[in-house]
Amino acid sequence: MEKTLLVTGGCGFIGANFVRLLLADRPGWRVINLDKLTYAGNLDNLREVADSPRYTFVRGDICDPSLVAELFARERIDTVVHFAAESHVDRSIDDPDAFIRTNIHGTFTLLEAARRSWPADAAAAGHRFLHVSTDEVFGSLGPTGLFSETTPYDPRSPYSASKASSDHLVRAYCHTYGLPVLITNCSNNYGPYQFPEKLIPLMLNNGLHGRPLPVYGDGGNVRDWLYVEDHCEAIVRVLTDGRVGESYNIGGHNEKRNLEIVELLCDMLDRKVGPLASGQPRRSLITFVRDRLGHDRRYAIDAGKIERELGWTPRWTFEQGIERTVDWYLANGTWLAGVLDGSYQKYYEKMYAGRTGEGGK
Ligand code: NAD
Ligand code: TYD
Repeated sequence: MEKTLLVTGGCGFIGANFVRLLLADRPGWRVINLDKLTYAGNLDNLREVADSPRYTFVRGDICDPSLVAELFARERIDTVVHFAAESHVDRSIDDPDAFIRTNIHGTFTLLEAARRSWPADAAAAGHRFLHVSTDEVFGSLGPTGLFSETTPYDPRSPYSASKASSDHLVRAYCHTYGLPVLITNCSNNYGPYQFPEKLIPLMLNNGLHGRPLPVYGDGGNVRDWLYVEDHCEAIVRVLTDGRVGESYNIGGHNEKRNLEIVELLCDMLDRKVGPLASGQPRRSLITFVRDRLGHDRRYAIDAGKIERELGWTPRWTFEQGIERTVDWYLANGTWLAGVLDGSYQKYYEKMYAGRTGEGGK
């Protein structure tokens, strides 16, 4: 089956893993990657595949209607996989503006282009608009329970509220105009190419350099971790076999407390590269800092629907995935140094100014 995909945000963490997977596994699929190259987008993430005849990179903003419309017409796009977003909760708390613009208005711009350029029988013709979303739209769980596809939306950060808004727009375009949409709501990803502002790569980077490891609040918040390749494979499955208009939760049944993750990473680094220069183990770097504003306590996904309907289950256990991830960061110090330019350092210092020592363990 041939497809021409518009992948948005293909130079980011999950997008880059997805583009690599498609170019390796789907010989009939052509990929147009539209990415603005914000701080989170990096051409190095796709360097080895950039010369593929089935791959085209376009630098541009998903909020630009004329660029997006021109791409749909020129490239005869029949499939959209929409990753592009501002994705970091802490940044959304500091400065929500770009989240509203890219995540809401950018999604609207793509929906409009698809609606105007696709035929009335787009669904029957096999056209699909797959919107990549998050479990954070469902809010925060107590100690028990899981998010299912029917859990009411209850977003609580500017990031999750912007993603929830975009999910609603996508559903509205299906209901009102018959646009053949699919939505995926996935739990926290980890793996190669993740920008070191997110928990796992941030702790790895700081741990390698002997810097403090900032754990928010009491470190008891729970996330449900999924290896990024499993997420990408689930997206392909939803694209090829998912029912139009449906949403699918994606998760790894792998809940961990943040402190558990940080301690595990400390121990893995000690084992793989030896203890700190001082001879101390890396756990000595753990620093409890003031909690994130409105910090969601627990996320956990019921992935039963995608398993029952589409036969998808994760391939990687957490132990395998985290080992591969740590090894990747150790082998890719140049990549890590390259993304940590001066502007990131300034941002990081500003964010943590005044937070140290105010944790509530
Ligand atoms: P990321 O921040 O690593 O990458 C985002 C990419 O989008 C970057 O390449 C960036 O340059 C690009 N981009 C941002 N604004 C743009 C714009 N206006 N126009 C064009 N490109 C733009 O994000 P990620 O972690 O790879 O997440 C990808 C998607 O998956 C997001 O929609 C996110 O909400 C969703 N998601 C992420 C996770 C996770 O754990 N990371 C979990 C579930 C869902
Ligand atoms: P993050 O990777 O930012 O993902 P999200 O907020 O989308 O779940 O954070 C994961 C968890 O780790 C979250 O509970 C916040 C916490 N955290 C820390 O304790 N310290 C940190 O430096 C970061 C970045 C996150």
